[in-house]
Amino acid sequence: MLTDGGSGRIFGMAHFRHELTAQFADGGHLGYCVRPSERRRGYGTKILALCLDKCREYGLDKALICCADDNEASRRIILANGGAYERTEPEGDHGMERYVIIL
Ligand SMILES: CC(C)(COP(=O)(O)OP(=O)(O)OC[C@H]1O[C@@H](n2cnc3c(N)ncnc32)[C@H](O)[C@@H]1OP(=O)(O)O)[C@@H](O)C(=O)NCCC(=O)NCCS
Repeated sequence: MLTDGGSGRIFGMAHFRHELTAQFADGGHLGYCVRPSERRRGYGTKILALCLDKCREYGLDKALICCADDNEASRRIILANGGAYERTEPEGDHGMERYVIIL
């Protein structure tokens, strides 16, 4: 969770999958969200940077991150954190873009 540290107000949350099982391989290692009222202030980009630090601490050498092909904000966050586009997989009625970040 990303909080302001003082009041404890939550700005955003993230999850980190330590291992990609067959069931979760398409979701990637990391997911994140920012409170709607706090979006477009850089918190999403910061949350992913903090998650990548956690991945390094855990010992991963690369992280897979996926975003829907219509999620411009998430794509920008991934690219700002060094994501390299791998490919797009079909998922339902849209595509899921896969990016790899070398840690
Ligand atoms: C995706 C999400 C985390 C972005 O959070 P955020 O705090 O607004 O992100 P940032 O402020 O760091 O913005 C990152 C970039 O996206 C852009 N952006 C933000 N919202 C956008 C939108 N709705 N449409 C287009 N671009 C957008 C910002 O301008 C910024 O661009 P820049 O780096 O070129 O300046 C947030 O919208 C969210 O929680 N969405 C729902 C959950 C989700 O989609 N999670 C990602 C799953 S992979």
